[in-house]
Amino acid sequence: MKIELNHPLKNLNTFGIDVCCRQLITLDMPQEVAQLQQEGIFNTPFYLMGGGSNTLFSGDFNGSVIQLQNRGIEVVHETADKIILKVAAGEAWQSVVEYCLKNDLYGAENLIDIPGWTGSAPVQNIGAYGAEVKDIVYQVNGIMLHKATFVQFHNTECQFSYRNSIFKKDYRNRLLITEVLFQLSKKPRFNLEYEAVKNYLISNNQEITLQNVAKAIQSIRASKLPDLQMLGSAGSFFKNPLVSRAQFELLATRFPNVPHYPAEADLIKLSAGFLIEQCGLKGYREGNVGIYPKQALVIINWGGATGKEIITFYRKIQAAVMNKFGVLIEPEVNEV
Ligand code: EPU
Repeated sequence: MKIELNHPLKNLNTFGIDVCCRQLITLDMPQEVAQLQQEGIFNTPFYLMGGGSNTLFSGDFNGSVIQLQNRGIEVVHETADKIILKVAAGEAWQSVVEYCLKNDLYGAENLIDIPGWTGSAPVQNIGAYGAEVKDIVYQVNGIMLHKATFVQFHNTECQFSYRNSIFKKDYRNRLLITEVLFQLSKKPRFNLEYEAVKNYLISNNQEITLQNVAKAIQSIRASKLPDLQMLGSAGSFFKNPLVSRAQFELLATRFPNVPHYPAEADLIKLSAGFLIEQCGLKGYREGNVGIYPKQALVIINWGGATGKEIITFYRKIQAAVMNKFGVLIEPEVNEV
């Protein structure tokens, strides 16, 4: 375990916000949670962080930022068709995807190039291009912060839904995810539901293979989403809103071309990117903060933005969408 006082966080959050925390606690092993618990750290302000790709620091954090940096990917079960991998929470999510590509394992490829660490993936049920991590999560292992006891959640106990899980609700700030087990297919099985992926493969005359699907997704992502090495952002800043059928039908009478998709619990998912773009805000910029010109769902730090500037900016976007469409778009990022 390492404890560093007054630690800068600029390089630890993908927005690149230049703030400090009172202490950065880096854990090498989940068992070290017991020591933090005995020292009463969890009775003081703390923030459990993974790769910092979904975090918006509003200012300096007067508490402990805690990162579990355990590593490792191992095969724990294998049949003729399937394999179960156990992955340490501190592994980059991208390492899991790369491992799968290298070993011809199917199921993670649509989620290529998503930043962040493996332990965070089930918390917000990361998703892209017709897939969600819930489709391959087998089990989530964690440690309860206040008791330092180990717990396990089978997929069906995780309450996964669009960008949500039990870890974001009941277990928020109560549990540290230590490992995630994934079930992958050894037999080819593709998810080409997302029109743009299918079209890309057809128009580039490419065979449907694991490598080609992954490359297609990389290429589509790169054409829409900013490179985090070049521009600070947290990917999609807002979640796509889920509205009731009645609300959608009312909206559709005024805006017949509004894109919509069926979602869980008989709700309708709207495209926040579309709503923002229709407000004329795609590419809109105020000082150091703006909407990414190629994807209206992404807020960009054009350089030197503070968390407060980003918060003021996103609330304006939220208000503009509410004003025009009567729909609340909520942040996907965690405001700290
Ligand atoms: N759209 C616009 N203008 C825009 C962006 C989107 O009109 O500027 C409309 C279009 O109708 C488009 C539809 O929205 O057809 C969907 O757009 P896109 O496929 O780009 O996806 P998204 O709904 O904007 C979601 C995820 C992304 C993920 C993509 C691809 C959320 C919050 N975001 O975005 O995830 O990569 O789908 O599957 O669900 C992230 O979470 O950080 C993220 C990047």
